[in-house]
Amino acid sequence: LRKLKDELLSITSSEEVREETSVDIVDEHNSTVSIVVVGASGDLAKKKIFPALFALYYEDCLPKHFTVFGYARSKMTDAELRDMVSRTLTCRIDKRENCSEKMEQFLKRCFYHSGQYDSEKNFAELDMKLRDHEKGRVSNRLFYLSIPPYIFIEVVRCASNSASSANGWTRVIVEKPFGRDSESSASLTRDLKQYLVEDQIFRIDHYLGKELVENLSVLRFSNLIFGPLWSRQYIRNVQFIFSEDFGTEGRGGYFDSYGIIRDIMQNHLLQILALFAMETPVSLDAEDVRNEKVKVLRSMKPLQLENVVIGQYKSHTKGSVTYPAYTDDNTVPKGSLTPTFAAAALFINNARWDGVPFLMKAGKALHSKIAEIRVQFKHVPGSLYNSSFGTDLDRTTNELVIRLQPDEGIYLKINNKVPGLAMRLDQSNLNLHYAARYAKEIPDAYERLLLDAIEGERRLFIRSDELDAAWALFTPVLKELEEKKVMPELYPYGSRGPVGAHYLAARHNVQWG
Ligand code: NDP
Ligand code: BG6
Repeated sequence: LRKLKDELLSITSSEEVREETSVDIVDEHNSTVSIVVVGASGDLAKKKIFPALFALYYEDCLPKHFTVFGYARSKMTDAELRDMVSRTLTCRIDKRENCSEKMEQFLKRCFYHSGQYDSEKNFAELDMKLRDHEKGRVSNRLFYLSIPPYIFIEVVRCASNSASSANGWTRVIVEKPFGRDSESSASLTRDLKQYLVEDQIFRIDHYLGKELVENLSVLRFSNLIFGPLWSRQYIRNVQFIFSEDFGTEGRGGYFDSYGIIRDIMQNHLLQILALFAMETPVSLDAEDVRNEKVKVLRSMKPLQLENVVIGQYKSHTKGSVTYPAYTDDNTVPKGSLTPTFAAAALFINNARWDGVPFLMKAGKALHSKIAEIRVQFKHVPGSLYNSSFGTDLDRTTNELVIRLQPDEGIYLKINNKVPGLAMRLDQSNLNLHYAARYAKEIPDAYERLLLDAIEGERRLFIRSDELDAAWALFTPVLKELEEKKVMPELYPYGSRGPVGAHYLAARHNVQWG
């Protein structure tokens, strides 16, 4: 194998192929993976990354030889890291089982190194420790940058300068935000590419790891019945809805420089839209899928100011409880105009989707926590069943709902005869309720994405041209909103959001589902 690898390396000078070659040829027993969580003391590491790694370990999905290294400035011993991590682990996969033994085994593989993010010396010390654990095996390294974005480059610089001893692949998972607009995103990409090639950069959008987002392509491309309907000919509008029933509490500092359009729409909702609307890819290979996503994103018109409504939550008292306004957070500047809610209408300029409104709605501190896709179909032309059968034609068109969370499910609203002697219709759901259909717990998005990164599967990660296309759609309107200091419409904490969202939808003949 090694000889073959050397031969392959000698016939190409491409860095990308170098990386691929080492991945494909490395034999599991003679190789090891070191997973370095940079920012291990932080919220995301505790909440998502360590629990996801444990879940993968529990399911025997991690390679035979692996170690997890936490890296951050906070002073911690290995034992203290293990103690911190152990408090985040649960027997999520099989709640009846006692996984304490598995947890113990997993924790023994976790280590910690304290260091500065801009210190080559500290990264060289980390490198020494990694080497000790790698014990002469082919060493593959996955760095997860779970840190604020303005230190990404320093970390990548220091890690790459000191990582000369890794002789397998090196990959870096980069967390959002990937810049604030087209320019800053391009500059981040440029800076990352001083140290890494594109194939080493795994830009994570955790919505792509959600089970029902993964299922979108299966639904579309493995069921004959949806394909013919999936176009302007039968679909009136598509809605992408994200709502949270809590505010930005604790993350106000970050949120205020980004706002809901950058936090949710430009990435999570747009990624789902791209998967929803793209043409059939040549294959399921990462590049084929990402090519189709880029194509559809580039067919879209940049969002226009008149097609956006923004809002911000204000304080609201319900019974004895008073919920705070966004600007009550100490980390948010007084008088901030940052939107915590936005609704937008986007259009795709291609033969399949011309004229179909793609509506997005995203908000914090609303009445419910939900993320879903709603596909509203057109009226039945020349329907035999008019209002005398109890149908309201405007309300009884077919609707396909894909509920991403919580309580995952897919249902199709159809018109049905109410049983009995009279001819009366009502609307019912053909319902695929995941909890009822599948006994197995749905994996967390971070589990799928971490596993894919370890396996070198890039399909669910964002390529740089995808990112450019995504920013091109939102950058002009974001600039305009900021330059014109557009006032967000205030809505009470826990409400359904600003009424402006309904006017926007109505202008496009849409009713929110
Ligand atoms: P944190 O604010 O918790 O930061 C992570 C770690 O980075 C901290 O523990 C701290 O470690 C270090 N750090 C924090 N602020 C600074 C600073 N100003 N200078 C240098 N180091 C600092 O971030 P999160 O864990 O919440 O998020 C990490 C990344 O993931 C961010 O890019 C975020 O945007 C992204 N993200 C987070 C989500 C979440 O739910 N938390 C969701 C989606 C994305 P120490 O002081 O020990 O060095
Ligand atoms: C993150 C956003 O990307 O996604 C947060 O920064 C948001 O503001 C979170 O709360 C929502 O993720 P999930 O998986 O809980 O829906």
